[in-house]
Amino acid sequence: MHELTMRAPDDFHVHLRQGPAMAAYASRSAACFARFLVMPNVVPPPVSAVGVADYRRAVESALATSAHRAATLMSFKIVPGMGRDAVLACAGAGAVAGKYYPAGAITNSADGVPGPEAVHEGLAAMEDAGLVLSIHGEDPLAPVLEREEGFLPVVDSIVARYPRLRVVLEHLSTAAAVDAVRNWPVRVAATITAHHLSFTIDDLAGERLDPGYFCKPLLKTARDRNALVAAAISGDGRFFFGSDSAPHPPAAKATGAAGVYAAPVAISLAATVFEGAGALDRLERFVSESGARFYGLPLNEGGLRLTREPWTVPAELDGVVPLAAGTTQVWRASRV
Ligand code: NCD
Ligand code: ZN
Repeated sequence: MHELTMRAPDDFHVHLRQGPAMAAYASRSAACFARFLVMPNVVPPPVSAVGVADYRRAVESALATSAHRAATLMSFKIVPGMGRDAVLACAGAGAVAGKYYPAGAITNSADGVPGPEAVHEGLAAMEDAGLVLSIHGEDPLAPVLEREEGFLPVVDSIVARYPRLRVVLEHLSTAAAVDAVRNWPVRVAATITAHHLSFTIDDLAGERLDPGYFCKPLLKTARDRNALVAAAISGDGRFFFGSDSAPHPPAAKATGAAGVYAAPVAISLAATVFEGAGALDRLERFVSESGARFYGLPLNEGGLRLTREPWTVPAELDGVVPLAAGTTQVWRASRV
């Protein structure tokens, strides 16, 4: 197949950051995605109606210069001591999800959650308000390769304690997490990134250390990757796409920041994975349908055209080294 047009996709997990660089990052995402859920790990974090509204305004003005239109979905950060009123105020400001970062797990998460008990009132309010609980599922105290599996019991306890709460376990990286999601009720879903579908820890560290592949959760084994691919192509609506595009400028990468700038290449990578698995016809469900259905949103209008037209991922884009820099990609994506 040389060309394929599908419904314009959603990105249910993207970091657009803050400040002057946002405009470039937002336009890059809008070139492929018609809608995205913006993660709240900025400083100060959006934890109130004003915070959510301010960050939305910043994202929308960053998008104003983009050649493509895109709708923004906002999230707030769940912080210890956040009461019912603050959660309902964030919902009132239009946030669709609250993000749970275990304290210390990742970029700007020192103010995260030490344990679910510390945010009980907030989680109960989210359940009542019909908000989605978005979880960075890693136990920062476990060995780095075991952090995701080590956090699954915490997710288990949250799923059991809040029987109506909708939950998204973000950026799955292990076969164990895929199994867990399959075994939870259908109100629990998961995002999967293009990089966890495409690469393993050997791409990061098998030869020379390549920080362009360094993200949390770490890329894992081929067995894990295969389980993720099987879930993504299965058509099971509980598994949908979130890029976890998380740009860091070179100076931050040089000092070890976790996060990959995936937005420029994510759809090309995902198309290659689905094609390789003989499932290109199911890509649309994974990137453009299942997530919207889980979040209870209308499907996007407009389309995305994929053309078989090899291109080389540049060494630098928007002041950042993109994911898979220097590789040749088979599929080129453009919104139509
Ligand atoms: C993300 C970032 O830099 O904001 N980094 C990453 O490695 N994934 C944080 C996150 O996704 O939680
Ligand atoms: Zn992320």
